[in-house]
Amino acid sequence: MAIPRDFVQDLCGRIDIEDVISSYVDLKRAGRNVKGLCPFHNEKTPSFTVFPDTKSFYCFGCNASGDAISFIMRIENLAYVEAVKLLADRVGMAMPDEGYDDSLAKLRVRILNANRDAARFYYSLLREEKGRPGLEYYRKRRLSDEIITHFGLGYAPDEWQALYNHLRSLGYNDNELLQANLVRKSQKTGRLYDNFRNRVMFPIMDYRGNVIAFSGRRINEEDNPKYVNTADTPVFKKGDGVFALNFAKNSGTKQLILAEGQMDVIAFHEFGFTNAIATLGTALTKEQANLISRYADELLICYDNDEAGRKATARALQILGETGMKLKVVNMEGGKDADEILRTHGKEKVNSLIKGSENEIEYRIGKELERYNVLTDDGKLKFLSAAAQILAECTPMEREIYSQKLANEFNISKDAFDSQIKSVEYQVRKRKREEKARAETRRMTDSFSDENNPERTRNLRAAKAEETLIASLMRNPDFLAKIKDKFTPEDFVTEFNKRVIKELIGLIEGGYSTSVSMFNEGFTSKEINSIVRISRLSEMTANTVRECEDCIAVIKDEKTKNHNDIENMNDEEFLRLFKKK
Ligand code: UTP
Ligand code: MN
Repeated sequence: MAIPRDFVQDLCGRIDIEDVISSYVDLKRAGRNVKGLCPFHNEKTPSFTVFPDTKSFYCFGCNASGDAISFIMRIENLAYVEAVKLLADRVGMAMPDEGYDDSLAKLRVRILNANRDAARFYYSLLREEKGRPGLEYYRKRRLSDEIITHFGLGYAPDEWQALYNHLRSLGYNDNELLQANLVRKSQKTGRLYDNFRNRVMFPIMDYRGNVIAFSGRRINEEDNPKYVNTADTPVFKKGDGVFALNFAKNSGTKQLILAEGQMDVIAFHEFGFTNAIATLGTALTKEQANLISRYADELLICYDNDEAGRKATARALQILGETGMKLKVVNMEGGKDADEILRTHGKEKVNSLIKGSENEIEYRIGKELERYNVLTDDGKLKFLSAAAQILAECTPMEREIYSQKLANEFNISKDAFDSQIKSVEYQVRKRKREEKARAETRRMTDSFSDENNPERTRNLRAAKAEETLIASLMRNPDFLAKIKDKFTPEDFVTEFNKRVIKELIGLIEGGYSTSVSMFNEGFTSKEINSIVRISRLSEMTANTVRECEDCIAVIKDEKTKNHNDIENMNDEEFLRLFKKK
């Protein structure tokens, strides 16, 4: 039985790979990943690694790798469909029946189209008389025309059926508009009416650039609520959206700024901080944290300077701490929020606030401090040895500063504390060295052979370019639209990578997720190993459209070279080529 992509996508959205694997393996956090003893070979030091950001795992010892589904297939010795069933049971999803139809998939595409058309409608109204209140509001908030266009901001008029009539005229039916949550149904009259009225409209895009939802801010301060957000729909879950991630991920830095609201994000972008993002209305969720960590090594938390903001920061730190990203808390003083601070004090003020932010060392030590009761000797001892562990990973300068600070604070001798740090330093160094060595070996072996792609060794330059292109598109599906005209899968030199890129393009064009799990249907679990390996490449590459274009050039170059080689061969050489395979 073929399992529909939509079902697999829903399922993988709901399962937490760490949670699934920890039923079988004792996992411990190591940096941004999670490690344990590999269940697929015998080992004493953990080399089995789970990557929550790409929902995959890899063993540096035996090279086993895959996603949650292939993990279950291997460990429970199940076929694909059975593994999917086991996981579906785990999260309480009923399996799709034999006769599963693709109506949900079709509906999704319709909703995405309707959202896009709605965004256009709201945006174009700003240039009309009817849209004047919206434009005036943006002017009052000092938004430039460029930034309005950049974010596709718009205005929903103060009418009951403006959007409804417009979208009906474009051919959308009532059900589609209701499911998109663009309109609502009156309980009394049964009539449909626009969900957003007399509000300035912020389209919310996913990292692929699809409009998945809207957030509408009131124009009259008497209206309630302040913001109306799209409810859950087949293309949007409230805890999933990250505002402006589609822009921030391409901002050229791995340091992102997390703001509290979308007005703050817009102000950040306007002032040149194009790496700012925000979650929407809800408290930060684990899904959002994982999504953000795919694009950021470091996150600056710039929540509002009020009680609510501080509470939200504490909660966010807890969830974000799990991702292993470097975290800094910026104390946003000088105004009630980033928007106000930027517009009253300017960019330099925010830069200096960012410079003064609490760094990760302080933050991590602070967290350890919360864990122990340092009024007791025992608690003090435990805290100080935890702090020594942290400082053992730091530079000599950092170590000097913080060991002095802690020695003073806890009234102990600095020498004693320093020697404590030294004694754990060896272990920490050793662990780091081992990790590095393993990563290097892996990279080296990667450069030569891959049993799933026998052509790889002979066409290394092409294969690497193919893989970089694949990895980059898996991570940045929005790039496809920009490079689509420049290549076809037929340009690929190696057959395996050609299959992967075909499948990937199908996923992207169908509006699906591009996680490794989505490949299970068309590839064996052995082949999934290679896809995981390829997907991890994006950790080491630039992830820019430019890089994709370079890859395409290399692939085409190698393709013609190969072609010429064949043309210049005599028959004997030509036949030998086939025997090699
Ligand atoms: P704020 O009340 O801080 O709004 O809520 P804001 O972004 O600073 O907007 P301005 O500057 O007053 O215009 C922060 C975020 O919480 C969500 C919105 O995403 C908002 O940007 N929120 C707030 C809601 O979803 N619903 C609400 O009713 C209020
Ligand atoms: Mn504000």
